[in-house]
Amino acid sequence: MPEELDALLKEKRIFKPSAELLKNSNIYRWMEKNGIHGYDELLEEALKNPEWFWDELAGELEWFRPYNQIKKWDPPHAKWFLDGKFNIVHNALDRHARGPRKDKTAYIWEGESGEVQRLSYLELYREVNRFANALKKLGVSKGDTVSIYLPMIPELPIAMLACAKIGAPHSVVFSGFWAKAFKERINDAGSKVAITIDGFRRRGKLIRLKEAVDGILDETPTLEKLVVVKHEGLDLDMRKNRDIWWDEAVDGMEEDCETEEMDSEDLLFILYTSGTTGKPKGVVHVHGGYAVGVYATLKFVFDLKEDDIWWCAADIGWVTGHSYIVYGPLLLGATSILYEGTPNYPDPGRIWRMIEDYKVTVFYTAPTTVRMFMKYGTKWPEKHDLSSLRLLGSVGEPINPEAWIWYHKHIGGSKCPVMDTWWQTETGMHLITPLPISNLKPGSAVKPFPTVEADVLDDEGKHVKNGGGHLVIKSTWPSMFRTLYKDPERYVEAYWSKFPCVYLSGDVARVDEDGYFWVQGREDDVLNVAGHRISTAEVESALVSYHTVAEAAVVGKPHDVKGEDIYAFVMLKEGVKTGEELESILKDHVRKEIGPIATPSNIKIVSDLPKTRSGKIMRRVIKSLIKGEDVGDTSTLANPEAVDGLKKVL
Ligand code: PRX
Repeated sequence: MPEELDALLKEKRIFKPSAELLKNSNIYRWMEKNGIHGYDELLEEALKNPEWFWDELAGELEWFRPYNQIKKWDPPHAKWFLDGKFNIVHNALDRHARGPRKDKTAYIWEGESGEVQRLSYLELYREVNRFANALKKLGVSKGDTVSIYLPMIPELPIAMLACAKIGAPHSVVFSGFWAKAFKERINDAGSKVAITIDGFRRRGKLIRLKEAVDGILDETPTLEKLVVVKHEGLDLDMRKNRDIWWDEAVDGMEEDCETEEMDSEDLLFILYTSGTTGKPKGVVHVHGGYAVGVYATLKFVFDLKEDDIWWCAADIGWVTGHSYIVYGPLLLGATSILYEGTPNYPDPGRIWRMIEDYKVTVFYTAPTTVRMFMKYGTKWPEKHDLSSLRLLGSVGEPINPEAWIWYHKHIGGSKCPVMDTWWQTETGMHLITPLPISNLKPGSAVKPFPTVEADVLDDEGKHVKNGGGHLVIKSTWPSMFRTLYKDPERYVEAYWSKFPCVYLSGDVARVDEDGYFWVQGREDDVLNVAGHRISTAEVESALVSYHTVAEAAVVGKPHDVKGEDIYAFVMLKEGVKTGEELESILKDHVRKEIGPIATPSNIKIVSDLPKTRSGKIMRRVIKSLIKGEDVGDTSTLANPEAVDGLKKVL
């Protein structure tokens, strides 16, 4: 059994919610209304009758035309709220802007250098409408995918909502990726219109994004128009008939724009994520089910109420930001913080100062951030009044009990439950998560969300009683991804073929005697670096695209802050000389091919890589070596001597 899992097994502490939190929680009130007494009964009833549960919640949203069937589960294909006419933007924006929440703040945006902008629901609505009209004028119609490459500025949610409003799916590309990723995604989606920015600052450093984009646009045959947000006031070359400033595009546009009546199952967005091959997967989400799923989870897991100030400190370029910065909080009519910069800039007090200033009540971040702040010490949060907080959240990777306890004590003042939410780009919403009525065990994501049937299976598909196994989901849920864009075979093959009719998450987990889930990490060749999903194959293919590299093997080494650190072992082509600078050239190459998050922290040049007789690189052997563990039996290797070569460079 791996060491980390062993440590989790020893964790026996239990944290109970306070009676006040429990009794005032949205889920508790909802249970009272439905005559349900207690957490176990809720989970039991919801599993028995998922239609009842979801119908109730879908009924809290507005439908242009009611659905006439709640779900159709034809594994591995699901449809939810069939024949319903719906638009997520009507629910996230229009109904608030026309109602009592119109002057309520939707977003408090803070730039990295400290400037602040507040947008009320009505102001956001007008901005979205103006941009939606601009998109139409640029030739975007229902069904056209718009590619968006923006950092954390208000124009990002505005652009997404404007697309969804007119029925144009959006494909957001994380602004920390290099422009090549943008090119590939524009081409995969066949976008006619794309959106980017002149430049933005990351840790004070200016990133000139539009100029990077200029370098790829000769290879995007479908692209006709590029909208550019002027954020840094850069003087740029704007290509005639192609490039247009955002401000010019919205100039003179009407503040009203009709919201397209979509089918529940119409495409809302594509979001690319890493799989086990070098080619990212275009995860497809739809309007109706996705909306109901993110609405319900944010309402019940993070218990958002009218006066809460919600801060999900993720980037909108990832699914956490799509679900819980853009759509979820707006569906609930909440006030959210939108922060442009990094959490420890210009010093490790930044986010604690912001929590104090804005009186944030519910805060959601990744374990890697918690561990980073643990290293800085308690003196930074102690300088600030964090007493407004009432709930904390964690997502993206397993949170080790030590970090959980630190977060609970030093950030949550020992009074805020930590919601360790397990989910994925594919799931769209939290699937295994505590609720405010659950007893918590540090390091455990607790139990499946109501109606979700999760299990841990061995290779034969049998439930694993003791120890780890494949984490699977046996039911459908409304915000389940519907397919992989233009790749329906891969959808079936990657997720639904190991066990028939069962969703394979790709994670390893165990269930304890109380039915609590302990997610340990990925079981495939996918790395989790600082909460970001990166496939070893993507980094390897970036490395071998360098002209002197013959082969590469990439593995993750456990890291106490980032979760995993990327190690690359590279074989060079015949006759190529190694030199001191080659390692940094290769790092730079990966940074330019994918982005800074995928850059290996260590690159070792080797003369051979351990392989099976069929030529497959044995990453398991390399992983054991870098962890200083015994590599075990090497007799199955075609070249056992490669192990000695690796030992020499480590
Ligand atoms: O390995 C799991 C880990 O993150 C993966 C999903 O990554 P992504 O699609 O990028 O979405 C991240 C944000 C939802 C999962 O397969 N993961 C996510 N949350 C947790 C987690 N691992 C353990 N505990 C969690 N709470």
